[in-house]
Amino acid sequence: MGNRSSVTIGLEAVSVQVDDAGSPRRILGPVSLELTERVIAVVGANGSGKSTLLRLIAGLVEPTSGEVTFSPQVPRTGFIFANPQAQLIMPVVGEDIEFSLKDSVTDRAERRRRAAVILESVGLGDRRDSSVYQLSSGERQKVALAGVLAAEPELVLADEPTTLLDLRAATEFQQRLMRLEVPLLIATHDLDFAAGAERVLVFDNGQVVADDEPAAAIAHYRRLALREAGS
Ligand SMILES: Nc1ncnc2c1ncn2[C@@H]1O[C@H](COP(=O)(O)OP(=O)(O)OP(=O)(O)O)[C@@H](O)[C@H]1O
Ligand SMILES: [Mg+2]
Repeated sequence: MGNRSSVTIGLEAVSVQVDDAGSPRRILGPVSLELTERVIAVVGANGSGKSTLLRLIAGLVEPTSGEVTFSPQVPRTGFIFANPQAQLIMPVVGEDIEFSLKDSVTDRAERRRRAAVILESVGLGDRRDSSVYQLSSGERQKVALAGVLAAEPELVLADEPTTLLDLRAATEFQQRLMRLEVPLLIATHDLDFAAGAERVLVFDNGQVVADDEPAAAIAHYRRLALREAGS
């Protein structure tokens, strides 16, 4: 099975503050967490801080105070965005994957071969020469995943990776993510998806308000959401 235990993510009293029209606003924290499970889901209302947490861990956002730590070392991290168009770089499917392999594989023919294998693994073996613009959203999402996999990540962060997908594509994509043998931290509004995680964090207003096994955490989130809808 996966080697999740080889990456532990630590957040020690981490806060993120932003400048909101001249006055400081805390959008996350303080949050302290130790993340060791292989599949962790992050749920919570719009604006509750889920993407900020992922971006912090990816190093795209710096904490205003506190510290993000990794052990035994900072992992090679793949980030899957909600909008795959944002992360596809090349206009042709195969070229995009080959581009992701550029650093690790110097031989061009070998890059082509590896890209073909990776595309096959996400069910796009026959789309290597397709334009990324002609793909459906789901296919594009799969190309984005293939590009992330090509870089052989030791940690995958996914920010609502299935919001553009139909039920079948979302289910397939989820299964593919779950089968990855790398630790996965995923922000999602899809509670069925979250239910398949080992641990679920519930965010509210920049804070972790529940941190539990899926059933208990999701029940907490439902109560919270329904209370707010009713008030
Ligand atoms: N750079 C920034 N400057 C100002 N405010 C920001 C910045 N980044 C995020 N925010 C604010 O921080 C809050 C948390 O945002 P975040 O994107 O983490 O929420 P989220 O839980 O991912 O929401 P969603 O479910 O809508 O994706 C929001 O109110 C957002 O407007
Ligand atoms: Mg978000």
